[in-house]
Amino acid sequence: MRSLFIAASLLIATTTVAQTAAQKKATFINNLMKQMTLDEKIGQLNLVTPGGAVTGSVVSSDVEAKLKKGQVGGLFGIDGPAKIRQAQEIAVKESRLHIPLIFGLDVIHGHKTVFPIPLGLSASWDMALIERSARIAANEATADGLNWTFSPMVDISRDPRWGRISEGNGEDPYLGSQIAKAMVKGYQGDDLSKNNTLLACVKHFALYGGAEGGRDYNTVDMSKVRMYNEYLPPYKAAVEAGVGTVMSSFNVIDGVPATGNKWLLTDLLRKQWGFKGMVVSDYTSVNEMSNHGVGDLQAVSAQSLNAGLEMDMVGEGFLTTLKKSLKEGKVTLAQIETACRHILEAKYDLGLFDDPYRYCSEDRAKNEILSAANRAEARMIAARTFVLLKNEKQLLPLKKNGTIAVVGPLADSRRNMLGTWSVAGQHDKSVTVLEGIKASAGSTNVLYAKGANLSDDPVFAKKINVFGTEIEIDKRSPDEMIKEALEAASKSDVIVAVVGEAADMTGEASSMASLDIQPSQKKLLHALKATGKPIVMVLYTGRPLTLNWEAANMDAILNVWFGGTEGGNAVGDVLFGAYNPSGKLSASFPYSVGQIPVYHSMLNTGRPYNNEEFSKFKSNYLDIPNQPLFPFGFGLSYTKFEYSAVSLSASSLKIGGTIKATVTVKNTGSFDGEEVVQLYLRDVVGSISRPMRELKGFQKIFLKAGESKEVTFIIHSNDLKFYNSALQFVNETGDYELFIGTNSAETQKAAFKLTN
Ligand code: NOJ
Repeated sequence: MRSLFIAASLLIATTTVAQTAAQKKATFINNLMKQMTLDEKIGQLNLVTPGGAVTGSVVSSDVEAKLKKGQVGGLFGIDGPAKIRQAQEIAVKESRLHIPLIFGLDVIHGHKTVFPIPLGLSASWDMALIERSARIAANEATADGLNWTFSPMVDISRDPRWGRISEGNGEDPYLGSQIAKAMVKGYQGDDLSKNNTLLACVKHFALYGGAEGGRDYNTVDMSKVRMYNEYLPPYKAAVEAGVGTVMSSFNVIDGVPATGNKWLLTDLLRKQWGFKGMVVSDYTSVNEMSNHGVGDLQAVSAQSLNAGLEMDMVGEGFLTTLKKSLKEGKVTLAQIETACRHILEAKYDLGLFDDPYRYCSEDRAKNEILSAANRAEARMIAARTFVLLKNEKQLLPLKKNGTIAVVGPLADSRRNMLGTWSVAGQHDKSVTVLEGIKASAGSTNVLYAKGANLSDDPVFAKKINVFGTEIEIDKRSPDEMIKEALEAASKSDVIVAVVGEAADMTGEASSMASLDIQPSQKKLLHALKATGKPIVMVLYTGRPLTLNWEAANMDAILNVWFGGTEGGNAVGDVLFGAYNPSGKLSASFPYSVGQIPVYHSMLNTGRPYNNEEFSKFKSNYLDIPNQPLFPFGFGLSYTKFEYSAVSLSASSLKIGGTIKATVTVKNTGSFDGEEVVQLYLRDVVGSISRPMRELKGFQKIFLKAGESKEVTFIIHSNDLKFYNSALQFVNETGDYELFIGTNSAETQKAAFKLTN
């Protein structure tokens, strides 16, 4: 009784404290806004970049003069406490109302200690690890003067032609939602006012990953049922996790550009999901609405504000036209004020009104950025993202004796280790694969030859080398380079071929129609194959590639994505067995480009095809299989895991209740290792056609060699809910199938009924 009383009074006390804090904030912002002129309110909605990280053709002009006039709410694209302090001082000391700026940057997969690209991180299926990477990124970024990151990017994509698939978490809404939550938590922590937490921005809202043909910025057209069930959940998860800001996307939705889409930014985001933070555009995406053909700059700026957009990135349509639109009755003062309020609230939450320089500490920058501890975590994390695609005759892990030939254009390429979107990353601080291998190889004799250029095509190289020379075309001829590689190979017991993509072959505006490894590198691989020596292919890639020849001809394939600053060391750790790989694909690797989109949660057709043989009048191809080459969830280990049959706690589940599914997983190989145990469900009969498999749970477990573990999933009836054709989130009673296994294609099955 007494403890109940104490608990109740504590609750009242905390509620009062919370209310007071909220009231204090409202009072502060009300007072400030009372002093602001219309121009100053519109000024807050302006986000500018003085250069630095540019992702479009326009860069903001006269930034300093605008800062003084109170025409800027935030700045992005610069980092470093000194530079940021300098800009903040202009705003705070020289603008009329001394309102501090918010400072943003694309801190996407780490700040200066760079982690694997997001698609790689997602392949770890380890939420604690992903959260940790975001936490370290927040520590470093805030030590470097920043307080806002344009991350997490949670666009579902099933099209590896789209270069930005590298920036997201792959094809699956459930996995994507878990990662969205982990990232928001990692960045924002539980208190934004701490000087090491970073305001997050979920992007690109919405559906950007559905671009037709995988061509960046292209049209998206999708049914609402698909949107709600498959593409929207990760954004919603980020909102539920308390993300402070949302970035609108470049694409159209139902024909209306997302940046000016009222259904999206107001009805869905604010009214249905209850989002309370601030909405920013993407880089000039307000202006680009004119190219979409929906009006001139004044019209599209007014449309965007009306839709619920609040901060205009770079384009200055808000700054230059909103006043006129207000006079003409095309927007309201209330809309401008709401937007301004949300931006001021973000600044307030970050503590910038208390101390505008709280993120500018030279000491913190010196001690906390690229520290030995952060690098050690980056190395540990990178190793956990690698996916072992093949390991014939247990070629891996390599023995630490004899001679190995390390060949390939990525073996000694420091410039390509960080991957795309590592804006603040320092290439010269990254470890190459060759260095990582040498450090792990013990007494092994390590030979090296470049063997091939990433591409021999200078026109292609020029398109990739926009941010620096990633594709360096050697002075020697391709044949001379291959000859050198073959000489090294002839003296070796095993070949490690480090091949794949240059860092910026994925990322923004990096769409590809062919997903084959570049011809120059294929030629090298063919020549190496002809030696008859065992070959380990270490694959650098930011997207699923088509690897049919490689899968048939290489003895082992380790996909290492772009592992970041410590990626090279992590490759050494995995090749020589210090860490047993445990990554699993978060996006299917297609057989051929013609198969795209191919993903695990497809619907059944009326003419399903279930076997390997071609069958006339069934849904299949004449020339390739239906299945991807490597399915979602796939990834090998140096050891073997055996799954028992699934046992269910009951044969039916009541709405509102739970059911338990259990399997025993045994490590039957000779290495300790981690396994991602995956749970999929199928709603057999529904009011609409339902996916053949949907991921609904996973657990990453560690098993010593010979050890067994019982793994239990508790499934609540809510996990079976989906959006029906009226877009109601419902449970439908009837038959369900449940699958547990090591990947989406190799599972044990059980069945149950959902009842009222
Ligand atoms: C454009 C990109 O689409 C977006 O992801 C990024 O955050 C902004 N540029 C700012 O750099």
